[in-house]
Amino acid sequence: MTNIWSYEGKRVAIVGCFSGMGEACARELVKLGAEVHGADIRESPVNLASFTQVDLKDWSSIDKAVAGIGGEIDALFNCAGLPQTFPALDVMRVNFMGIRHWTEQWLPKMKRPGAVASISSLAGMGWLQNVPLLKEAIAIDGEKELIAWFESHQEAVGDGYGFSKQLLNAWTQIQAVKYAKEGIRFNVTMPSPVKTPMYKDFQQVAGDGVLNAFTAPTGRFCDPAEQGNPLVYLNSDAASFISGVALPVDHGFFGGVVTGELNVQELLAQAAAANA
Ligand SMILES: NC(=O)c1ccc[n+]([C@@H]2O[C@H](COP(=O)([O-])OP(=O)(O)OC[C@H]3O[C@@H](n4cnc5c(N)ncnc54)[C@H](O)[C@@H]3O)[C@@H](O)[C@H]2O)c1
Repeated sequence: MTNIWSYEGKRVAIVGCFSGMGEACARELVKLGAEVHGADIRESPVNLASFTQVDLKDWSSIDKAVAGIGGEIDALFNCAGLPQTFPALDVMRVNFMGIRHWTEQWLPKMKRPGAVASISSLAGMGWLQNVPLLKEAIAIDGEKELIAWFESHQEAVGDGYGFSKQLLNAWTQIQAVKYAKEGIRFNVTMPSPVKTPMYKDFQQVAGDGVLNAFTAPTGRFCDPAEQGNPLVYLNSDAASFISGVALPVDHGFFGGVVTGELNVQELLAQAAAANA
């Protein structure tokens, strides 16, 4: 009998497996018996079936990487990302344009049923308030045209981080509907802050007070594996009817804010005091 939780006999690709959540996710997939093909701008320390260097900022690098890995896959894991300490356009190119192009190159090579799980962020949780603008950008196909759109919408793009994550959330929902009849599922997670190598960039931008505020529900930060494992679940057969979900992985922070159970004003005041 097929084990719906298992990755035995499955061939998967993962981008962003050098460090952090992607590295943790890749390690778990190897443990679960998957044939894991990794890609990243920096060589992964995980013992993978193959590793390919890719720069998500560059579509020709993506095309070469996907062609080089070759073959069909059962599932795709999108874990790479850049923080807002990088130029806004680079952040947009990696976090949205690169992830989207990489996924689109894999879709013809994806088995049916298949699944795609990406990492967004709580920084993109406002996407529902921005759908018309997000759809305008998502409707643009070409690399140059999309860059031109970002350059002419600098106010919306801002530092690139929140907007790129909003785009990833909205695009995931659109893809989920578009590919439902073909049997490909699309989901995205929205982690709260995690102490991966990227955390130091967030410390620089937001300060420890703000980052600590996200630990309000439990009083602790999560381990990168606690973000990698939900992706493993979402792309497993056990999640066969889950598609189009933007899942907060934050131990209740998002729900606490929405329902007012967490007092945001109080948390922000504490954050300001801690950062002072
Ligand atoms: N750490 C956090 O607090 C946090 C919170 C919410 C969401 N996220 C998101 O989680 C994802 C994983 O980040 P992380 O926290 O594990 O940080 P990380 O820095 O450890 O991982 C990012 C990965 O992306 C890769 N990468 C960066 N630029 C690339 C490029 N041009 N081409 C290919 N690969 C590239 C890096 O080499 C690295 O392996 C990111 O999308 C990030 O935005 C992080």
